[in-house]
Amino acid sequence: MADTLRLTLTALAACAVGLWAWRRWHYRSFWLVIGFPLTAITVRATWRKVALGCGLTKKRQRWWFTTVPGAIASTGLVKVRRRFERVAVDTKPFMWLPRPTRHGWRVTIWTLEGQIPDDYSQAAERLAHSWGVHAVRVSSPRPGRVVLAATIRDPLVQVRDLPPSTDLLKVTVGRLETGGPWEIDFRTVPHWLNAGATQSGKSNLANALLVGLAPQPIALVGFDLKGGVEFTPYAPRLSALATSRAESVGLLDDLVALMAERMGLCRTAGARNIWQLAPAVRPVPIVVLVDELAELYLMADKSEKDEIARTSTALLRVAQLGRAFGIYLFLSGQRIGSDLGPGVTALRAQCSGRICHRVNDPETATMTLGDLDPAALVSARAIPAETPGVAIVAGQDGQWYRARSFYVTEQAAEHAARTYADLTPSWDEITAVDGRADLPELLTA
Ligand SMILES: Nc1ncnc2c1ncn2[C@@H]1O[C@H](COP(=O)(O)OP(=O)(O)O)[C@@H](O)[C@H]1O
Ligand SMILES: [Mg+2]
Repeated sequence: MADTLRLTLTALAACAVGLWAWRRWHYRSFWLVIGFPLTAITVRATWRKVALGCGLTKKRQRWWFTTVPGAIASTGLVKVRRRFERVAVDTKPFMWLPRPTRHGWRVTIWTLEGQIPDDYSQAAERLAHSWGVHAVRVSSPRPGRVVLAATIRDPLVQVRDLPPSTDLLKVTVGRLETGGPWEIDFRTVPHWLNAGATQSGKSNLANALLVGLAPQPIALVGFDLKGGVEFTPYAPRLSALATSRAESVGLLDDLVALMAERMGLCRTAGARNIWQLAPAVRPVPIVVLVDELAELYLMADKSEKDEIARTSTALLRVAQLGRAFGIYLFLSGQRIGSDLGPGVTALRAQCSGRICHRVNDPETATMTLGDLDPAALVSARAIPAETPGVAIVAGQDGQWYRARSFYVTEQAAEHAARTYADLTPSWDEITAVDGRADLPELLTA
């Protein structure tokens, strides 16, 4: 008897240790084989209670039948006094079978009459607590359906490995909360705003971008008016670098002139953009990286007023027309608001890619993310200082995501810049054109 007991206990202990080790060493298979099925059963089994608690049910009239009139237990839900009775019951929205994801699960819900996805978004935090998960995100693939995606733990606590980029002008710079890649693709979203407080990870993201773009047949241009401390080490891979106001005025003029020339080229070839040109004559795409956009607008004294106005117009011009002519902007800054100067609001409107790192005040989040879902703004303000590189990202699909960039040190970026230095087209080569005639016209239009 004692032997059997000891044997059973030993077997149970071995089982527990085995499961613990499995979970510890290969969480993904453990999650798929053990964790997820148990979770899915629990989620389905408790859905009525959870939906009721989160205010997602509706009262409906139903006929109920009981053999024992008066007993609450007869239905488990309502008290039925007669054998047949019409009663109001709480109906839960229909839940489809949960499906596992890398960091949790996802399930489709059929909304009840009168419900909208926003009702679920508002209940997201309640759902997360009821299910004991890190977060629940709500999306709606089509009318009448919402998808609840639960993430068990914050998948952005540790993000590693920058995969090599394969497509032209497309870089995987980090991971999304969903476990998917965070991609910056200049050909779908040509211009990006990258906002955040100091130490929030803006420069890290620029580094990741630089490492991804360095091996590609493109030109990189830098604007770094904080004395060039950020971008000078990457100079080997930069075709041009402006570190002072005078230099930036010159460089922007060059860019506008270049655009005019490319415009002429496309016009003569009957192409709408450079991608419709034959590869042999297609000009090299240019990615313009700006660190601390505010510096471009900062006025030390009145004498700089004209220069700033010129800078502002040129930058806006590039943003408006750059897309078709292969000039893409990546603008970083702590605040990218109208208080910087005229033209910034218009510039912001041209940037459809938005990245909001940790910010100090709600206005900056609103300014960066625009009138996106209010939940995105709440999420942006909740980014803790301990996780630099975490950001809210809005791109082409109108959706927003929480994401974290890969950690890319200055040394790594510098190394990439030196390694691929021979791919750097020289600025003279890029701008060796005679299409400057259009320049005044473009700058004043
Ligand atoms: N994705 C990341 N993962 C881990 N650490 C990061 C990440 N991004 C930034 N950091 C750390 O945060 C610090 C500040 O980042 P940085 O990019 O210089 O911020 P900013 O340019 O916004 O001031 C860096 O020293 C870096 O070590
Ligand atoms: Mg920085």
